[in-house]
Amino acid sequence: ICGTFWLLIQVFMHRWAEGASAGPEGTKAVRTLDDMPGPSVASFAWDLFAKRGLSRLHELQLEGVQRYGPMWKASFGPILTVHVADPALIEQVLRQEGQHPMRSDLSSWKDYRKLRGHHYGLLTSEGEEWQSVRSLLGKHMLRPKAVEAYDKTLNSVVGDLIAKLRLRRRSQGLVTDIASEFYRFGLEGISSVLFESRIGCLDEVVPEETERFIQSINTMFVMTLLTMAMPSWLHQLFPKPWNIFCQCWDYMFDFAKGHIDQRLTAEAEKVGRGEKVEGRYLTYFLSQTGLPMKTVYSNVTELLLAGVDTISSTMSWSLYELSRHPEVQASLRDEVLSALGGRRIPTAADVAHMPLLKATVKEVLRLYPVIPANARVITERDIQVGGYLIPKNTLITLCHFATSRDPAVFSNPDEFQPHRWLNKDQTHHPYASVPFGVGKRSCIGRRIAELELYLALSRILMEFDVKPDPEGISVKPMTRTLLVPENVINLQFIER
Ligand code: HEM
Repeated sequence: ICGTFWLLIQVFMHRWAEGASAGPEGTKAVRTLDDMPGPSVASFAWDLFAKRGLSRLHELQLEGVQRYGPMWKASFGPILTVHVADPALIEQVLRQEGQHPMRSDLSSWKDYRKLRGHHYGLLTSEGEEWQSVRSLLGKHMLRPKAVEAYDKTLNSVVGDLIAKLRLRRRSQGLVTDIASEFYRFGLEGISSVLFESRIGCLDEVVPEETERFIQSINTMFVMTLLTMAMPSWLHQLFPKPWNIFCQCWDYMFDFAKGHIDQRLTAEAEKVGRGEKVEGRYLTYFLSQTGLPMKTVYSNVTELLLAGVDTISSTMSWSLYELSRHPEVQASLRDEVLSALGGRRIPTAADVAHMPLLKATVKEVLRLYPVIPANARVITERDIQVGGYLIPKNTLITLCHFATSRDPAVFSNPDEFQPHRWLNKDQTHHPYASVPFGVGKRSCIGRRIAELELYLALSRILMEFDVKPDPEGISVKPMTRTLLVPENVINLQFIER
């Protein structure tokens, strides 16, 4: 891998020598990319590879704003990208994203699917193909009533999570590496919604295939940035990253296919015996739409993948911050107890009476947006943003980490202050913190994710006082395609 880095740097140096470096700000009325500031290809490559920049991509956003202002260009491997780090400018991009927004090339993800003859899922498909599956899934994932119906299923997963936390407690109630438990919770949660059956991630002994699936997601995310930064001809020369990346995807596709086939076969046998089938789960809905099975497999694989790290990171950061802010934790517990009026298990409807809980999750996602940088490629036409003409097909990176930590938008931006979202006098630009994205291509799992987080956090706070590890250190985020905790988080769960 070291050799690969050096070769990449040489490639960057070569392009730099060809004159791909940045120019000064221009004076024309509408400026072009030539006028846009930004690091030279060589210096950006240096930041990325020599200074562990791939895991610090979110911090590079902050440095970029300081050096170049709200818009700058940089070359990421073979790709030139325009960075936009101002809420109003992000709004300008998203308002021009067109009928079928394209997030980015995610080129290595697509290359893998082409290589293996898989179909695309919602994360990777484009155009009409994306639109048709989005409309089908939207009916079951975006309508509030449809999502509320998953609360019983999710509550049973939360019950198992609480039992597992109890089991994992050591002296003084310490649970080490909480994220590892929340990965399993995320996978069990999304599986229960997709298959309406449990796959044992929270059992005392976790099935080996589950551990391998989670490991495959982690490694695949690490390899994503690397495989995207490498031009495809380098994959032949230095095959290791690409091969590992493919093995991870192979395992994820096999895992999803295995579960889908098992579930649908059991259903078919029931029908064969004349029994009534009452499928209320997403895989069933998808399989009834007439989509080819290859499309069902790829969509379920991508939904499973999307539901694991996102939930795990948000759960980990929420409890990390709440453990360090006992006063917020106490107010939140009071809110939950009063909303439940003596009951122990919240329903989806109860969440309407928990504004502080919602504000807490918003604040956590502002500080630690799971997707620290999103992207758009506008293929239909050139657009203007912040006075620059951006040619069609340019990759535009939306720097959400930078905007959500911008002191001009949020006072004390590095502080955890959920109440800022409840204070009517404090308003923020609506595009300053958009952890689920905005518009047609925004997160389709948002409602399910929020419900899962609300049900889990409220129950945990009723069962435990959550305290920091007395020997713990403060934990920073790092980028692994997604934003995740850099170190393990250990917390005390004191029985209430
Ligand atoms: C805290 C949890 C989550 C966060 C912060 C989050 C965030 C995001 C973001 C920022 C996007 C890109 C939106 C855009 O490009 O405008 C996205 C897309 C997506 N998310 Fe999530 N997500 C979360 C949980 C989930 C869950 C649980 C699922 C699965 C049930 C899911 C499924 C998806 C899918 C399939 C897409 C692609 C949508 C499309 O392209 O049409 N997400 N998510």
